[in-house]
Amino acid sequence: MNLFRWIDSLVNKLVKNYTLWIFGGLIILAIIAVKAYSAIFIPLLEPPVFSSYRVLQTEWTDDRRERYYQTSQGSLVMPYAWFRALEWRTGTQMWTSPEVQVKYGLLPDNDTKYNPDRMPIGIVKEIVPDEYVDDLGEGQKEWASLTCAACHTSQIQYKGTALRIDGGEGQWRFEQWSSDLVFSLVVTTSVPSKFERFCARVNGLKAGQKCSTDEKKLLHTQLKAYFNSDLIMEAVNAVINHIYPTQEGFMRTDALGRGVNGVFGPLNPNKNINRSTGSVSYPPLWYTHGFDWVQSPAAIRQPLGRNVTEGWGVNIRVEVNDPNKRFGSTAELDNMFWMESLLATLRAPKWPEDVLGPIDHARAERGKYLFNEAVWSQAPSPVLEQLPANAQDLIAPPNPNRPKTGYCARCHAPTLDVQPNQYGRRYIQLPLYRMTVLGTDSWVLGTDVWDAKGFNERKVYTGILAKPSYNGQEVVGIGTALTTNVTGVLNKWFQEHNISEPCQIIMEGYRPNEFRAPLGYPARPLDGYWATGPFLHNGSVRTLYQLLSPVSEREKTFWIGSWEFDPVNVGFVDEKIKGAFLYDTSLRGNSNAGHEFRDAPPNTPGVIGPYLTPEQRLDLIEYLKVLDSVQMPPEPLQQHTAVLNATARFYEGHTGPTPVGAPEENGGFKKTDFCAAVDSAVPTPTAAPAPAAMKK
Ligand code: HEC
Ligand code: HEC
Repeated sequence: MNLFRWIDSLVNKLVKNYTLWIFGGLIILAIIAVKAYSAIFIPLLEPPVFSSYRVLQTEWTDDRRERYYQTSQGSLVMPYAWFRALEWRTGTQMWTSPEVQVKYGLLPDNDTKYNPDRMPIGIVKEIVPDEYVDDLGEGQKEWASLTCAACHTSQIQYKGTALRIDGGEGQWRFEQWSSDLVFSLVVTTSVPSKFERFCARVNGLKAGQKCSTDEKKLLHTQLKAYFNSDLIMEAVNAVINHIYPTQEGFMRTDALGRGVNGVFGPLNPNKNINRSTGSVSYPPLWYTHGFDWVQSPAAIRQPLGRNVTEGWGVNIRVEVNDPNKRFGSTAELDNMFWMESLLATLRAPKWPEDVLGPIDHARAERGKYLFNEAVWSQAPSPVLEQLPANAQDLIAPPNPNRPKTGYCARCHAPTLDVQPNQYGRRYIQLPLYRMTVLGTDSWVLGTDVWDAKGFNERKVYTGILAKPSYNGQEVVGIGTALTTNVTGVLNKWFQEHNISEPCQIIMEGYRPNEFRAPLGYPARPLDGYWATGPFLHNGSVRTLYQLLSPVSEREKTFWIGSWEFDPVNVGFVDEKIKGAFLYDTSLRGNSNAGHEFRDAPPNTPGVIGPYLTPEQRLDLIEYLKVLDSVQMPPEPLQQHTAVLNATARFYEGHTGPTPVGAPEENGGFKKTDFCAAVDSAVPTPTAAPAPAAMKK
């Protein structure tokens, strides 16, 4: 047994068996001190962080931006008092200090109004509803939580200027942050002097005062329960059994793999927790509210259902065992809806010429021609390139209105659904390309399995829910499983809070809660993508220039972690700074193949366009800097704004987190009041008969 495995198994024993803690902890520390410290606690970044930054998107008021950074979606990560009292790793620096958090790529947030505790962007306080404190909240009312902004806010630096990009690809190294958080707590509970300090802080004692024996005992009992919870057991299991063998690093996480393991693991840990190598970049969020389906394999239709699925994957607690409370959860659906409405008003960032350099307009014009008009004579027909239409799998036929020309526009131009749905709404229909055409996952050419394929092949064992929720079916496909469970959570919340039907429909974004698992990847509009490197679903291509180059010219490995921008090749610079992560494209799930422009025989897998000369690549890049292809339909946009204005009093103006169920003067609100405001802001939704394509 190698050293690391031995420590792993010791930690596993520790988390199960409290009596071993002190003893084990000391041994761990001894070993850590000698050898394994750097294996567990890897070196981290020390990025320069500027106290001021430029905001590139002007749609949001400062209040709304800050609120977005600090609104809880209902994830429970660690009791808030512990999170605040924790020291980082084996040292004495506080875990929550901005200097520590920024090492993981989380951005500091100096706002004092909504963020009195100066948490980083996206790390927030969740106040668990009273009825769930005892069971789902393990007796703790206040929890540290993570929210959309942690993964979906980015900052680019260029020669000393910081550019904030809301809804952009966050730099967060989520996996390392999570494991360091748990290891820091293990160390804290194992080292007596650390535990003393921790206990005193948790209990709010004055400097120099120590916890009483009773206080310590209570804290030990609570820690034990926490270490035994599904959350920690799963995290430790993931480390010990190498559930995610390919390290994620910065700017991405194995969203679908972790999500499905998290949601369905508790139903049958042996069968529902699968190894996964499907890391995906945090995608940008502008315009995504208007897409017909989202996620890298275009798997989820409804925004609210999507948010619940994501939240469940990152520790929203859901009751599944108790039949009376089944599908009751800590999910904050009103907050999710508010954040979704805000995101629906966000536009792609504009290239700031004064910081990143002027646009060469002649070049951009040439790029525009290549993008929209140039014709590749070898292009297969849309029917051969896209996934076959199939009503049962909810896959629509290729959109006849999609442009036929352009090296890029034929796939990436935003094209609205041919037919409106039953609420008269049309979304941007993302075309879904066959993997054999695109070739961006290497299993197409070999035996590797990742994001879309891993998801597509997933089976879920329904366990205790087989009878009550699945008509006795013990094994179901991933689409059915997610639809059933997530709909359960939505309906329970609506029912608990007496939400009117019109308000439900508005909150659900006028779309049914449906999931699918196609074996393909969608082509999204590329507005603002200059700010979202590294590229492709797995973040395997560092710059736009490389994406437009033959695969043989793309880097096989590169360092990721520096926030310094390269405005010529467009992406982050490749710099081996302290704490940078080595991205190795030869590892499973990291393939940088496909989506290739090179001269090759017709139908060569992965080749989607002709060889581009270096000049043509630069022309296209120049055009991508100014690309503005998405027209947001005016009516839904007005409605999102009306909703934000009508619900402003619940979110804006008062300090601290949004407490649920607290008196309104303290910033709390009743869900029925919230819905009354929503209902008053927009016309009552009326459904026409569903068009054929929407029927199952
Ligand atoms: C822990 C990080 C994390 C958090 C927190 C998070 N997301 Fe994401 N989000 C991701 C990743 C990774 C993906 C890509 C997943 C995939 O493609 O399968 C994603 C995908 C999405 C997409 C799909 C975009 C597209 O173009 O397909 C939307 C929309 C989205 N997130 C919105 C949100 C909202 C709203 C919240 C908060 C309620 C949120 N996310 C919270 C990491 C996160
Ligand atoms: C045959 C359709 C097709 C064509 C042609 C095409 N793309 Fe793509 N593109 C896609 C798909 C599908 C993806 C998502 C692939 C993935 O993530 O694995 C993608 C991804 C991208 C991305 C990365 C987005 C991200 O999430 O990081 C960029 C940038 C991009 N394309 C630019 C271009 C440009 C520029 C052109 C024209 C020179 C072009 N594409 C031509 C289908 C196409």
